[in-house]
Amino acid sequence: MKLVPQPKIWWNGRLVPWEQAQVHVLSHALHYASSVFEGIRAYATPRGPAVFCLDAHVTRLLHSCRIVRLPLRFSHADLCTAIRDTIAANGQDACYIRPLVFRGYGALGVFPDECPVDVAIATFPWQKKDEAALLERGIDAGVSSWRRMAPDTLPAMAKCAGNYVNSALAVGEARDRGFHEAVVLDVDGFVSEGSGQNLFLVQGGRLMTPPVGSSILAGVTRACVLQIAADLGVPVVEQRLPREMLYIADEAFFTGTVAEVTPIRSVDGLVVGAGARGPVTKRLQERFFAIARGQHDDRHGWLAPVRGA
Ligand SMILES: Cc1ncc(COP(=O)(O)O)c(C=O)c1O
Repeated sequence: MKLVPQPKIWWNGRLVPWEQAQVHVLSHALHYASSVFEGIRAYATPRGPAVFCLDAHVTRLLHSCRIVRLPLRFSHADLCTAIRDTIAANGQDACYIRPLVFRGYGALGVFPDECPVDVAIATFPWQKKDEAALLERGIDAGVSSWRRMAPDTLPAMAKCAGNYVNSALAVGEARDRGFHEAVVLDVDGFVSEGSGQNLFLVQGGRLMTPPVGSSILAGVTRACVLQIAADLGVPVVEQRLPREMLYIADEAFFTGTVAEVTPIRSVDGLVVGAGARGPVTKRLQERFFAIARGQHDDRHGWLAPVRGA
């Protein structure tokens, strides 16, 4: 997705012009990946732009900071206000939101304590190519030869930059092989997740997804889909999934802030179910979009309106 400059970026407590949000080339994070971030969306709703699961995303950002020991000087409430202010300043109806916390310029060496902790929030439009078709037709995935990090190597539950070296290797290999996306296995060979998405399977009317112990990021969209499944009376099991489950599932889909609810139509060249969005995926996807777009009762309080909060 090519970036198009927007008017403002929130930078350590104030809104600055987009092009002024710059870092020095010797900033710690560029060398040692000492950064954590979030990916959030605001949807256009009848009440104006609304941030989807703002509270859960900001909470995860604070958890990521804690896990990788980045002392953050802004509170949960500060960051929620900053996100709303940035969207309002950029005049967006719908956008992608990228908060970033990182070790900046000051000293070099792996141990970063002398470097400041800088915070930025950018908001910009995110239009997926062939979005409507992908959401209906689905994508082709391939199991990666790269494994997800073992639990005692890197913290999969933190959304930290270093983890995305693993993601980039997996999705790069998948593209080279002609797939849209990778399915990555955990260190024990069980299904973990995609490069930037959680994974669900449907078999015999039951929804299945790997647990947090399978080296996944605890996705905010994943939690919403689990809640929607409960609301719709779809039985759910969170359990380790052997790779071959991918080949015999009736339906499969990815979830994520960017992926939303994207059907998987094949894995390793084997067609999943009927080779397009299945009926359970469709129900979950429709309810997800209806809530996100403010067209269905927001009974779990997932929408945070930008104006008049
Ligand atoms: C590795 C990884 N897994 C899963 C997800 C899905 O998480 P969410 O639904 O919170 O966007 C993401 C995206 O943030 C991710 O990067």
